Amino acid sequence: MPDPFYITTPIYYVNDVPHIGHAYTTIAADVMARYRRLTGNDTFFLTGLDEHGQKVQQAAIKAGIDPQTYCDRVTPQFRNLWEKLHISHDGFIRTTDARHKAVVQRALQNLSNKDLIYRAEYTGWYCTFDERFWTEKDVQNGLCPDCKRPVEQLSESNYFFRMSRFQDRLKEHIQQHKDFLRPETRRNEVLGFLQKPLEDLSISRPKSRLSWGIELPFDSDYVTYVWFDALVNYISALEYLPSVPAFERYWPASIHLVGKDILTTHAVYWSTILMGLELPLPRTIFAHGWWTVDGEKMSKSRGNVVDPYVMVEEFGADAFRYFLLREIPFGQDGDFAREPFIGRINSDLANGLGNLLSRTLTLIHRFSNGRVPEPQDSTTTGLETELKRTAESLIREKLPHHLHSGRLEFNRALESIWGLVQLGNQYIDKTAPWVLAKQPDQKPRLDTVLYHSAETLRCLCISIYAFMPTTAEEIKQQLGLTLNFTKPILEGEFNWGGLLPDTQVTKGQPIFPRIEATTKSQGKNQPSPDHLGSSPSYQSQATASSQMKPEPTQRPGNTPGSDDSITIQEFEKIQLKAGKVLSAERVPKSEKLVKLQVDLGREQRQIVAGIGKKYKPEDLVGQTVVVVTNLKPAKLMGIESQGMVLAAGDEEVKSLATFLEEVDPGTKVK
Ligand code: MSP
Repeated sequence: MPDPFYITTPIYYVNDVPHIGHAYTTIAADVMARYRRLTGNDTFFLTGLDEHGQKVQQAAIKAGIDPQTYCDRVTPQFRNLWEKLHISHDGFIRTTDARHKAVVQRALQNLSNKDLIYRAEYTGWYCTFDERFWTEKDVQNGLCPDCKRPVEQLSESNYFFRMSRFQDRLKEHIQQHKDFLRPETRRNEVLGFLQKPLEDLSISRPKSRLSWGIELPFDSDYVTYVWFDALVNYISALEYLPSVPAFERYWPASIHLVGKDILTTHAVYWSTILMGLELPLPRTIFAHGWWTVDGEKMSKSRGNVVDPYVMVEEFGADAFRYFLLREIPFGQDGDFAREPFIGRINSDLANGLGNLLSRTLTLIHRFSNGRVPEPQDSTTTGLETELKRTAESLIREKLPHHLHSGRLEFNRALESIWGLVQLGNQYIDKTAPWVLAKQPDQKPRLDTVLYHSAETLRCLCISIYAFMPTTAEEIKQQLGLTLNFTKPILEGEFNWGGLLPDTQVTKGQPIFPRIEATTKSQGKNQPSPDHLGSSPSYQSQATASSQMKPEPTQRPGNTPGSDDSITIQEFEKIQLKAGKVLSAERVPKSEKLVKLQVDLGREQRQIVAGIGKKYKPEDLVGQTVVVVTNLKPAKLMGIESQGMVLAAGDEEVKSLATFLEEVDPGTKVK
């Protein structure tokens, strides 16, 4: 039996309505929960709401109601959204739940009994928005270093948790547990933060200033600091939300998913609190990046907050889920804009997956009476072997690898799944079943092709389930599959060949109709360079209406003397030189583009190259590459590129062109 799997999202403040940031983490957690349930893990997925503290108290005052009524009013906005997004949480916690409050008070008493809590007078700079004190050296020009709002000097008596005592243990823990803080850059940030002496943590607020909170068990003049209260949710929930208390079963958490802004509170506050309580630390805390909108920070004042309700209404939950996880690597920041979103729906979902399903079912209806035919082994070719190999390696190797807790490479997982979608469409193009159908002696071969197309879809159905549960159900229905997604997938179903011949298929509505760009986005409806680069499927896959056309003839390699030949003089117009890469960095918001500074002997050039999927920037520094030096400069994602580096590969970069021996930068290449 695989290990229990416990995954959490942050609990969201109720002073705000749900936005894309909340949806993002919750969708990611849902994908992991669904995937782990499917692969047999006993899973608990927790989300919920953070209902105490100053922000909520202020929001309630503004609304002219008491805080509890305010929280009760906002709660359905989150609950309903999760329903619309098909979030499959097992528990929904609210920090105003009486049982949660009791656990917080017990935890405080426990720490106090161990002399880990003391009272002291503290004078410092207080940020109301972040609800925390800063020291003199943190504050810059009277502003909070975190949110840049004005801070005020406060002197007050408070209770403190002896966080400083745990500094060395925490450092050691981070160093010894590679997957504890992810991704690596964030882990290094926390280790950097821990280089400075760690201060004790104020865990109380005087009621005279803030009354909306959990009363301290040892001093009724105080309430608990909202972060202490909130973090304890991860353990309190296990006591009362499952049908029977399940702390032993699920703790320590497998993954706490958090945004990058709240990593420190989790990595440092929560970890040290757990150490004080003598409880094991979570296995992984994974910090994801932030979304900007049309290149700008999302904020109410800018009026650009992306409302997930609107997205679901307009594009459907699965398309939204797909886009958020496909567009950017989970740990990095990304930009949300309508055009790339619509671009992906049309290319990956409508032309890619939707088309594969629709054409396969049409072919089975037309040439096999709507029943999956039996494959004829004697007729299989290398194409079938490649499909089988790709599908099995996707399910058995790639998905587990990319969805490993320490990686969470959702975009990579989806890329691999869409590799199979593309292969499936190419398979139909190449085998041209509509041509086979005209030749009675090709019937066995036709049956094999139809079976393999449908079996590819069965494997895709399993693979996309965690990401796009409704689409997986729809494909399952249309293909007549017996899969049961509410239970772990049976071992045998992971193997190629699980589809039973003679299964009746039922063609339904297109799962992803193409979306026409709205007036608003017309003229701007260019997929980003990334998008163009990463979706050869957009160009090469047949659209629904052209699906029955035979494969376009492939251009053979150029032969000497053919019309495409060029003279040596023509070739010499292209100036090629050896260039040494001096520095390399990723272009923000792009998966493919890397900005290089290249030494060309007498000059240095900036080149933007689409090689970022294949190479990490650090692997490129020091390499000597072949540069086209007389190409007209061009701008890629707004950055000037003064040349081009050569690489082997078609749609995907396979290898940079380099040299067998050392050559000086600037050496001519001919
Ligand atoms: N209540 C605390 C969390 C307590 S967990 C014990 C809190 N709540 S929040 O509602 O302000 O933020 C919740 C999450 O939303 C954070 O993980 C934050 O990173 C995330 N996001 C807020 N804006 C975001 C984007 N623009 N993009 C992505 N995530 C963003 O903090």
